[in-house]
Amino acid sequence: MNEAAPIRRRSTVRMNTSDKRLNDSASQSQYQPYKDAAWGFVNHWYPALFSEELPEDKVEGIQICGIPIVLRRVDGKIYALKDQCLHRGVRLSAKPTCFNKSSITCWYHGFTFDLADGLLSTIVANPDDPLVGTTGITSYPVEEAGGMIFVFVREDDYPLDDVPPLSQDLPIRFPENNARFPHPLWPDAPSLLDEGAVALGLHRTGQSNWRIACENGFDNAHILIHKDNTIVHALNWVLPLGILPNHEEPITLTEDEDGPKGLMQWLFTDRWKPVMENPALGLKIDALNGRFYRTSVVLPGCLMVENWPEEHIVQYEWYVPITDDLYEYWEVMVRVCKTDQEKAAFKHRFDHVFMPLCLRGFNDCDLYAREAMEEFYADGTGWDNEQLAATDVSAITWRKVASRWNRGIAKPGKGVPGATKTSSIRLRRLAEGKAPGYFVEKIEDVNTY
Ligand code: FES
Ligand SMILES: [Fe+2]
Repeated sequence: MNEAAPIRRRSTVRMNTSDKRLNDSASQSQYQPYKDAAWGFVNHWYPALFSEELPEDKVEGIQICGIPIVLRRVDGKIYALKDQCLHRGVRLSAKPTCFNKSSITCWYHGFTFDLADGLLSTIVANPDDPLVGTTGITSYPVEEAGGMIFVFVREDDYPLDDVPPLSQDLPIRFPENNARFPHPLWPDAPSLLDEGAVALGLHRTGQSNWRIACENGFDNAHILIHKDNTIVHALNWVLPLGILPNHEEPITLTEDEDGPKGLMQWLFTDRWKPVMENPALGLKIDALNGRFYRTSVVLPGCLMVENWPEEHIVQYEWYVPITDDLYEYWEVMVRVCKTDQEKAAFKHRFDHVFMPLCLRGFNDCDLYAREAMEEFYADGTGWDNEQLAATDVSAITWRKVASRWNRGIAKPGKGVPGATKTSSIRLRRLAEGKAPGYFVEKIEDVNTY
């Protein structure tokens, strides 16, 4: 018999998730579709490539929402098909093979698909096969605007007649929305769809879920990570410690029937107040040196930062889902240039100031922060275990509006890179120092050795 006194545990305060948090289970239930959208929202327009990345007759392969897509430009027009051969599933873009201007042929056994509609039009070694003309691969509508190529990433059975215009998946425009969203502090933000719009930027693969990336884009509580960015010091900006909602409607939804669906934040109005001091930490901002901007976001995850990083320029970002743990981060600045001289001046300033200091320096901090969050969310439990606070009203509002208006939740990718996280191919590529990404790896032609 053990005569030792029983061990008594002292009572202790358990640090559980607080009841005061914004995202309790009732709130979470309003954005369940968003929680289910690990692979993104389908039946939306997404940026695929910059126009200059797809010159005449070039073939390129990418992946969006777990769907492999091959693009080819012929006589200036761009076609997009599912990049997964009907026969045995290899990617057409891995070794582009085209015998004429109207088709693309699978390099393996020669299944040949019509570029316009994806129909199996012949098979190189068996033109009389009964399959010919009876089946095919999905085609995707394409639009080009301001130097960017957009693809409507649809489910196989989404009717082509129901494809909305690109403008429904781009931010709201000005000046037509000036009365609704007045902005006395800056000139009208340009749109990619404006005449003379020039888009300059980059895209790169980020190692996190697309939702984490997207929420970071318009997160008002993360000024901290940018406080020492070179652009901030170089231009003598003095940023507040944060900004807090200060009104019953700090955010307005945009839910017009034929327009983009998302939200607009009333930043730099009395609906948000800057935080200038934190006495507990002895932090105090004496005087702001304003960089006035405004952020909005629309489905399927397109951020607009007006008046950033300077007047007459708008920054757009997209967080294009590749898999459930990779996204293509698009960082684009748009300016309307009326003359070649204006265009050259914009490009010069972009190359030497904005690219290094904004899209790289400033935004690199965001990229790292998203990757730092990924493991908490990767197994799906982070959405339940996070404890959001007052400033996170933006993320919660976005989750709800995205849940209401998305045109479909992407199913996990099938037979594509990233569908199986531990495939031997993925591990071999990692061992070779190749990170998983957006583009298809081309097959080298061994005959040249
Ligand atoms: S895998 Fe494409 S033709 Fe066989
Ligand atoms: Fe940021």
